[in-house]
Amino acid sequence: MFFLPAIAGERNRISKNAYNDNGETVHYQEVRRLEQIVINGGTPLQGSVRIHGAKNAVLPILAATVLADGVHTVKNCPRLSDVSITEEILKSLGAKTVRREDALVVDATGETGSFIPEKLMRKLRSSVVFMGAVLAKTGRVKISAPGGCELGPRPIDLHLKALSLLGAEIYEEHGYLELYAKRLTGCHIHLDFPSVGATENVMLAGVLAEGETVITNAAREPEICDLANFLNACGARVSGAGTSSIRIEGVRTLHPASYTVMPDRIAATTYLCAAAATGGEVTVTHMEPEHISAVLSVLSDCGCDITCGKNTVHLKAPEKLSACGAIRTMPYPGFPTDAQSLMLATLCVARGTGLITETIFESRFKPVPELSRMGAKISVSDRVAVIRGVDALWGAEVCAEDLRGGAALVIAGLCARGKTVIHNPCFLDRGYEALEENLAALGADIKRYR
Ligand code: UD1
Repeated sequence: MFFLPAIAGERNRISKNAYNDNGETVHYQEVRRLEQIVINGGTPLQGSVRIHGAKNAVLPILAATVLADGVHTVKNCPRLSDVSITEEILKSLGAKTVRREDALVVDATGETGSFIPEKLMRKLRSSVVFMGAVLAKTGRVKISAPGGCELGPRPIDLHLKALSLLGAEIYEEHGYLELYAKRLTGCHIHLDFPSVGATENVMLAGVLAEGETVITNAAREPEICDLANFLNACGARVSGAGTSSIRIEGVRTLHPASYTVMPDRIAATTYLCAAAATGGEVTVTHMEPEHISAVLSVLSDCGCDITCGKNTVHLKAPEKLSACGAIRTMPYPGFPTDAQSLMLATLCVARGTGLITETIFESRFKPVPELSRMGAKISVSDRVAVIRGVDALWGAEVCAEDLRGGAALVIAGLCARGKTVIHNPCFLDRGYEALEENLAALGADIKRYR
């Protein structure tokens, strides 16, 4: 089934970046015939929503399964398209995967391949962490440059420098990278920037290296702790995860593990921002409030009444949000870059002027032109967005261009007057399980048309 919205003047609009389910660029007229999310906005969200397992934790954990022969059970594994692509990568390396309720069972018995086809690498940014894991397990790996959401240049120089310090020989030819190392050797690696992906790659490579690896200026994101906990459950010796100095004592072999993935802090943030923007009252459950302290502080500054339980956050929005102080995205525990678009959409309907500086990824203001079509007043200069709050947004036809930018459009659509049609909802499937169902259960008028 497909749905053709009849909005005057919209018929011939061409989007510069519209994608089909395979991530290929397609003409806007074709996009119209693909999936759409339609929201009739204006209903304050009410009720409670349960948070699924974290996308950014489960992907490196699934990559880590190749390090240990045998059958792993990864529980609280969300049903996301990024997880499906990771399963395809695992299969291309010789592993088998099967779903058992909320768990993904990965059988990594037998020989592990060392080549990941370009088609799969391009679909997923996190595929880069297979580099450290496969190299450590097999002594070689051949991959192409990783893909994922287009957020500006996403270099991997820190990953390569670190793996080279661990003893990998690196060759680059015809768009492919090949790394070799009979056995990696532990050493001291200082990251110039606390890159999440580079920290994960070093951890994945270091657990089977000979001797001790110490990472300084390591990323401190909760997903790093989750990966360390999984690796330790497999028999690795990783300590200090969550601080900027991680110590890894290499071991000869690892064994498979059964592990429960941490909750998704960005999904939790998304529902809280949606509740705030719609003037609602929502309880988010099965989450870790501490993981989103920076976000909760901003929402509280905007006038929301927030109560944290052990694994819950209750948010009651004021009648009208107020703009908060300046927001600057930073590595954890700072304000997360993944939450930036969500807050951008929320501030569109706050009283006063908000200011957001994006310091991590330069192309993270992609939803701005689409939000402007909905009546938002945002001006962007370089990495700074100035948001002048309006009384209300209005529904419009818009295109998602990345995962969190797409979620920003959903938040805007939920609080806008009238109908919003969001094209490219496939981006949302990368990071949200049952998004429309959860929002509908909170009272939103939202439907996906296929
Ligand atoms: C980033 C986020 C992470 C989020 C993830 C998913 C940060 C610090 N990281 O992790 O919280 O969960 O996106 O959206 O917020 N860089 C280099 N060279 C490298 C690697 C990175 O210059 O080899 C730069 C990047 O261009 C970027 C910054 O470091 O400006 C952060 O990159 P990194 O943390 O590696 O990104 P992700 O692992 O994708």
